[in-house]
Amino acid sequence: MKKAIAVLCSGGDGPGMNSAIRSVVRTGIEQGYDVFGVYKGFAGLLDEEIEKMTLSSVGNIIQRGGTILHSSRCLEFHEAKYRKKAADFLKSKSIVGLVIIGGNGSFQGANLLHQEHDISVACIPGTIDNDISGSDYSIGFDTALNTAVEAIDKIRDTATSHDRTFLVEVMGRSSGRIAINVAIATGAESVIFPDQVKTLDGVAATIKRGISRGKQSSIVIVAEGDQEGLGYNYQKDLKDNYELDTKLCILGHIQRGGNPSASDRFNGARMGYLAVKALSSGETATVTVKRNGSFKLVPLSECLEKRNDFDPELLNILKTLSM
Ligand code: F6P
Repeated sequence: MKKAIAVLCSGGDGPGMNSAIRSVVRTGIEQGYDVFGVYKGFAGLLDEEIEKMTLSSVGNIIQRGGTILHSSRCLEFHEAKYRKKAADFLKSKSIVGLVIIGGNGSFQGANLLHQEHDISVACIPGTIDNDISGSDYSIGFDTALNTAVEAIDKIRDTATSHDRTFLVEVMGRSSGRIAINVAIATGAESVIFPDQVKTLDGVAATIKRGISRGKQSSIVIVAEGDQEGLGYNYQKDLKDNYELDTKLCILGHIQRGGNPSASDRFNGARMGYLAVKALSSGETATVTVKRNGSFKLVPLSECLEKRNDFDPELLNILKTLSM
């Protein structure tokens, strides 16, 4: 049987994943592999939902959002017996390498599959949260930023017409990267990080100072933190304790959709190519990262932690520019 590799997407989807899938499939075929697409992430390995891909099965997808392979958060994969089932299935199909496009949780699963069953894995950072340690970038982040910025520009229009303050909650889980980037890019007045904020004194003071100097609208970006919908608590707090009326908009899953930006397409293509090259040259347990503008392969062990930090200077920039 010809040697094969497989590719799957796991965790939250993100624009640009299709570009990475296309790149993996076409590079894999060029390298002489049979290439299988696994549907619905690790769950597809358990349910044996795979399909042999051809050059044309990934045609006309580079510009599409989402992932043609679908994705899932597979809780069963936390259990060793299911990882064994997945490994047995891969081996039965002569699949010698698996490309995983996903975030931190997916990388943990890939690592266990490799350690316990000697499956060669090549990971590609794919999450709008951009919170994979060891990489400056993950697929989907750029498009998600642009989607959020476009939405907030529209909110600014109506906020200004009505002299209002808006709280806008963005995704990112415990990572504040979407929040801080979007805040700076939209000229937001302030940003709230649930894991850091103790009182809203500073936020309220910023809004009131803006109003008193004649600002016609204010936007406060709320990082969602570990719980979607915290914006409601901050809205109530601002009303009850600071006499500030605000509107709340939770951007939600629109941030995960849409046609990928040029960067997400380009980076997906680069990362997919590099991941397959790693497998074909016998490397295993790798991640294709982007660091200081360059793409490179690093050991998976370097990328297993979640990265929640961002350059603290960004907060100073926001504060300075939103006066
Ligand atoms: O990890 C990506 C992400 O979009 C987070 O920003 C968000 O908190 C989460 O996924 C939402 O997950 P789900 O789509 O499973 O509700």
